[in-house]
Amino acid sequence: MKILVTGGAGFIGSAVIRLAMSHGHAVVNLDALTYAACLTNLASVADSSLYAFEQADIRDQAALDKVFSVHQPDIVMHLAAESHVDRSIDSPGYFIETNITGTFNMLEAARKYWVEFGKPENFRFHHISTDEVFGSLPSDPAVLFTEDTPYDPRSPYSASKAASDHLVRAWHATYGLPVVLSNCSNNYGPYHFPEKLIPVVILNALAGIALPIYGDGSNIRDWLYVEDHADALLLVATRGALGRSYNIGGENERTNLQLVQNLCAILDRLRPREAGNYADLITFVTDRPGHDARYAINPSRIREELGWRPSVTIEEGLELTVRWYLENEDWWSPLLARNGVGKRLGTDKKVGQ
Ligand SMILES: NC(=O)c1ccc[n+]([C@@H]2O[C@H](COP(=O)([O-])OP(=O)(O)OC[C@H]3O[C@@H](n4cnc5c(N)ncnc54)[C@H](O)[C@@H]3O)[C@@H](O)[C@H]2O)c1
Repeated sequence: MKILVTGGAGFIGSAVIRLAMSHGHAVVNLDALTYAACLTNLASVADSSLYAFEQADIRDQAALDKVFSVHQPDIVMHLAAESHVDRSIDSPGYFIETNITGTFNMLEAARKYWVEFGKPENFRFHHISTDEVFGSLPSDPAVLFTEDTPYDPRSPYSASKAASDHLVRAWHATYGLPVVLSNCSNNYGPYHFPEKLIPVVILNALAGIALPIYGDGSNIRDWLYVEDHADALLLVATRGALGRSYNIGGENERTNLQLVQNLCAILDRLRPREAGNYADLITFVTDRPGHDARYAINPSRIREELGWRPSVTIEEGLELTVRWYLENEDWWSPLLARNGVGKRLGTDKKVGQ
C-alpha cells in the first residue's frame, strides 16, 4: 500500500512513517519543512526504496495536485499543521492558512484525484486532529471526551483544527470523499520538538535552568506515547469505518506539575545533579491566556472497534523519553537555535501575522 503522509518531517508524522515502513508500506512524505520539521527524524528510513520525499506546502494547491498525480497514493494521512498553541496566540494567521486553507486544499486535491481515478474503493483520506477541539473539561474524573462531545475550541490553534475537522466531514457528506478522522490527546516521546513542555523540561533541567510551569501547574492533560499514537493512526487509516471519527488517548491524566515532578524524579535517578534535586528548578510563570483546565479522552471506540491498546505505561514511556533525550544531544542541540525556541511565547504581548 502507498501512503501519502503530510507533515511527515514533524514529531508524529515521522513516527507514523517509521512505523508504516516497518509494516512494508511505501510512503510519500509531503512536508514544507517549516521551523518544526526535522528530516533527521527519518534518517533510519530515508534511503529505503519505499520512501519518497516531496517538499511542498499545503497552502499551494498546484503543488498538491502534482504530488497526487505523480505518486497516486492509496491512502492519505494528513498531519501537516501548525501545532503549537503558544505560537497560535502570537501569530494566528499562520494557523488559519495552514490548518484551515491547507486542509481545504488537501481535500480538493484528494477529491480531484479520487474522481479522476474512478473513485477507487479502498481510497481513504485520514485527517489527524486533536482533543483540543472539544474545549476544556471540568475536574470530575467521570467526565471524558467522547466522539459525541460538542466542539468548543478555545485557542486559535484548536479553533483552526476544529474548522479543518468540519471541512473533512463536509467533504464526506457532500462529495462522498471516503474520510476517517481521529482526535488524540497530548503526545510525548522521542523527536518531540524542543518547544513543547516535556522536552523543554528535560533540556532545561540538563542545562540547570528554570523549569517553567504555566499558572499553578494544575492544568490536566492525558498523555500518550507517540509510537502508540502512530500505531492507532495506522489502524484508523486502514481499518476505520468511513465517515467515522476515533478518539485516541492513553488514559494517563496528569497535572502539569505532577508530570514535571515525574520527569525530575527520573532525571534525579539517571543523571543526578551535583547539588540538590531537579525539582528545585521548578518555577511558576504567568499562565497562558485561555489555558484549558483539563483534557481527558475516553478511547473505548477505538479499543472496542479496532482492538487498539497502548503498548507502554506512562511510567515506561517517560523513562524511554528521558533516556532518548540523554542519548540524542546531536538531534536536539541544533534545534535550540531555531526561531522562537527557548523563548516565552503566547503571552499575547506580541502581534504576529
Ligand atoms: N503533538 C500532539 O500532542 C498532538 C496531539 C493530537 C493531534 N496532533 C496533530 O497531529 C499533527 C502532527 O502534530 P505534530 O506534533 O507532529 O506537529 P509538528 O509541529 O511536530 O509537525 C508538523 C509538520 O507539518 C509541517 N508543516 C507545517 N505547515 C505546513 C504546510 N503549510 N505545508 C506542509 N507541511 C507543513 C511541518 O514542517 C512539520 O514537519 C497535527 O495535525 C496536530 O494538530 C498533535
